Amino acid sequence: MRAYLCNAFGPLDTHGPGDLPPPVPADDEVVIEVAAAGVNYYDTLIVQGRYQIRPALPFSPGGEFAGTISSIGAAVEGFHIGQRVLAFNSFGGFAEKARARASQVFPLPDAVSFDQAAAALVAYATAWFALHDRGRLRAGETVLVLGAAGGVGLAAVQIARAAGCTVIAAASTPEKLDACRHAGAAIGINYRQEDLKEAVKSATGGRGADVVIDVVGGAYTEAAVRATAWRGRVLVIGFAAGDIPRIPANLLLLKGCELSGVFWDEFLRREPQACHNQVSAILAGIENGSLAPPIHGRYGIEEAGEALKELAERRATGKLLICPKR
Ligand SMILES: NC(=O)c1ccc[n+]([C@@H]2O[C@H](COP(=O)([O-])OP(=O)(O)OC[C@H]3O[C@@H](n4cnc5c(N)ncnc54)[C@H](OP(=O)(O)O)[C@@H]3O)[C@@H](O)[C@H]2O)c1
Repeated sequence: MRAYLCNAFGPLDTHGPGDLPPPVPADDEVVIEVAAAGVNYYDTLIVQGRYQIRPALPFSPGGEFAGTISSIGAAVEGFHIGQRVLAFNSFGGFAEKARARASQVFPLPDAVSFDQAAAALVAYATAWFALHDRGRLRAGETVLVLGAAGGVGLAAVQIARAAGCTVIAAASTPEKLDACRHAGAAIGINYRQEDLKEAVKSATGGRGADVVIDVVGGAYTEAAVRATAWRGRVLVIGFAAGDIPRIPANLLLLKGCELSGVFWDEFLRREPQACHNQVSAILAGIENGSLAPPIHGRYGIEEAGEALKELAERRATGKLLICPKR
């Protein structure tokens, strides 16, 4: 079968399309004929050997994919061949077929397209887990989203807005801020040009943000902690800027605020039922139109490297998809 392959860990332009034997499911797995796979920031890291998981070589990246089940492991119950599903498997999805553990497969309602589903799983489930679970979001609160025009960022904007909150989006260009406003943000801050803490304070009448979604890291994290309200919750999700910040603990004391880690893959592994309930709520939100995953572009397997570069170079607004039948 055709797949986008990493034959050796290295820079993004060292990988490309190739052939792999079709996957065979282990007892607890299903194999899915992939209709659409979402591109995530960690796909750009895993092929460089810079992610916490280093798969055996050669492998295809692509951790979230939607399609139909084509074969089922001997111990799997509750799924059938031909069923429309959405799955998470850390890697393997930029290919015509991919394996996933049945516990990490979600039945897909007919009204949700493969593209919408593949664009939603990691980004929306991470943002939902962060805001509603780790962040205990309440209607009427103010949410600051850093990297707000990215995959997780736009999902967080929509989920917070749907929960009745005021969203302040921070991103690096006017075009990205327009996309955030379109997704429901009330206020946009260009954090390349404006002082983040001062801009948030001024937008909130000096009060600060109740909840912060941080997928960027670097110097922005401390500025965001300084821009939180009393009893604020800062949700640490990722470090797209590259640097892992160190935060002075006295800031947390003075503001009575929390810094909480958000690790969605681990949540899925450790608390599968709670995670499945959250994904069901997201799929219901897509069905009823309150959530709408923004799709930035679609690529075939042969051009998957372009999609990875587009993401790594900060050119994407919303999700990129790899569609093998394109
Ligand atoms: N903890 C978890 O469970 C979990 C789950 C999913 C993702 N993540 C992590 O969350 C982060 C964001 O993921 P994503 O899929 O939303 O990525 P994405 O779509 O690429 O968005 C990341 C955003 O970060 C900003 N950014 C700032 N500095 C950057 C840099 N040097 N390079 C690239 N982007 C930069 C960009 O916005 P501006 O240009 O506007 O600054 C970009 O839109 C990643 O670190 C990812 O690994 C963690």
